[in-house]
Amino acid sequence: MSFREKLNLDKLPKHVAIIMDGNGRWAKEKGKMRVFGHKNGVLAVRDAVEGAAEVGIENLTLYAFSTENWNRPKLEVTALMELLVSTINKETKTLMDNNVRLNAIGDLRSLPTRCYKELQEAMAKTASNTRLTLTLALSYSSRWEILNATKLIAADTASGKINAEDINEKLFESYLSTHNLPDPELMVRTSGEHRISNYLLWQLAYAELYFTPKLWPDFRREDLFEAIYNYQQRERRFGLTSEQLT
Ligand code: FPP
Repeated sequence: MSFREKLNLDKLPKHVAIIMDGNGRWAKEKGKMRVFGHKNGVLAVRDAVEGAAEVGIENLTLYAFSTENWNRPKLEVTALMELLVSTINKETKTLMDNNVRLNAIGDLRSLPTRCYKELQEAMAKTASNTRLTLTLALSYSSRWEILNATKLIAADTASGKINAEDINEKLFESYLSTHNLPDPELMVRTSGEHRISNYLLWQLAYAELYFTPKLWPDFRREDLFEAIYNYQQRERRFGLTSEQLT
């Protein structure tokens, strides 16, 4: 029986976040350049998005480029940005056909102009799609996001727009770039690394974490279904006891 068949569709996470890791190692294993791994990573992105839409996941967030990734060799950074532009170009029609909304979080202004423009255009075009929201974390780091929110709150407090006593979790969340998204219930990381790497630190507070040794270019929708099935077997207690939950 496949994991797809084993899934309980009434108990799906509303939001799955993924750290796509292992592209470079996948390419190296094959004696190829790292960029070859990223190109094949796009195939895995497509399959994961289709799989998520197929079973009814409403939100999928992918860590596509971290703030730290800017420090990679220039050639790799340029290739990744090119790949992003060409993928967005190629896939916008598929996103439309499948009713998928494209969204992005991160310091988007730091992206090359063409990349930023393509992204904005694709986001505008898909803005009213409702089946699945696909969020790309680009030039994203969670500490950057939290600091950014803090600065905005400080400015609004100084100008009298909000009172310091009114700052609570709900208000803080409204200043994060994920303010329109529910918190992920499940975070998946590929390539056998067991870290969160500055990804959605606030939002993952209660998430179930799932790690797989598969390298990202080998990841397919059945692997996503396996992760969701694994999540469905867990008991989420939010600090309560098992007895309190029942
Ligand atoms: C991590 O593997 C992967 C990335 C930093 C980039 C992910 C990008 C893609 C899958 C392609 C573009 C995506 C979209 C959404 C169009 P790594 O390079 O860190 O691998 P390593 O740890 O083996 O070196």
